[in-house]
Amino acid sequence: MSEKMGDIIQKNIESIMSKSQNIIDGRTGNLVPDEYYKMFKELVYHKFGMDINDSKRHGFEMKISKLVEKSGLSYKQYHDKLDREEDRELTIEFLNEITINKTDFFREINHFNYIKDEINLILQYNPRILTNKEIKVWSSACSTGEEPYSLAITLREALPQDIKIKILATDISHKVLKKAITGVYPIALKDQINEFHLRKYFHIEKDAIIVKDELRDMISFRSFNLKSNFPFKNKFDIIFCRNVMIYFDSIFQEKLINDFYNFTVKGGLLFVGHSESLSYLKHNYKYLKPTIYLK
Ligand SMILES: C[S@@+](CC[C@H](N)C(=O)[O-])C[C@H]1O[C@@H](n2cnc3c(N)ncnc32)[C@H](O)[C@@H]1O
Repeated sequence: MSEKMGDIIQKNIESIMSKSQNIIDGRTGNLVPDEYYKMFKELVYHKFGMDINDSKRHGFEMKISKLVEKSGLSYKQYHDKLDREEDRELTIEFLNEITINKTDFFREINHFNYIKDEINLILQYNPRILTNKEIKVWSSACSTGEEPYSLAITLREALPQDIKIKILATDISHKVLKKAITGVYPIALKDQINEFHLRKYFHIEKDAIIVKDELRDMISFRSFNLKSNFPFKNKFDIIFCRNVMIYFDSIFQEKLINDFYNFTVKGGLLFVGHSESLSYLKHNYKYLKPTIYLK
């Protein structure tokens, strides 16, 4: 056999081998062999804090097998590349695929109503906002941006006009951040925003609503993994951490809440998602209302 023909056969064998990893395991019915599933499960827990429980196994396996197949690597090679963080593009693509990014404008409306209706109380708890003429807010898992834009609108309407609004909006997924930064949303989302705010803060096109600069200028978008050490110099007056802790286990949740506490000013507030009570975690925030906490 010529050397060339030998190479071709070898390549074909490698390709078939790498594809055959994605054939369902006949014994267990699982898409990813147990050994690799466990490796990836551990990796996402240690690196990104996400706790994949067995009820989510199938969805997680579908995503992993698709990514591995596309890469042309074996499960082990793909895992090790992620683990060693040696391929930035691969890590970004992986995170884009495995995160769940559901969000809406004014999602869980009573948080925004609380800020609007209780703004005097918020300023009483935290008089520095008026003294400094500035409010610092962190939307810590901002997804495609609807949350920080809703915060910007609510605060701009509620606070005196001379107070500068500075919102840091972070997420681990680059894909959602790109969308958030453009500030362009499908026209169907206009129903999530009241008519007055829509006209004041958005350009309304035929197919899209586009955030006006006035709103966008209040927000800085950055990628940030909540599993990392907080790199901030200053503390925040308000922190939103909504609908992301459900993916973390209680050990990481407790650490995160305590990190948030250390980065909240005295008299500042923490808002968590409606299904994310802190009652079973050790922390020093004072309970104000369900899902709203005071330092
Ligand atoms: C379901 S969305 C919630 C969006 C918004 N907070 C809301 O309540 O509408 C959860 C977001 O958390 C992000 N996320 C997941 N793990 C994260 C981590 N370790 N660090 C930062 N963001 C993370 C995901 O990329 C996703 O955009």
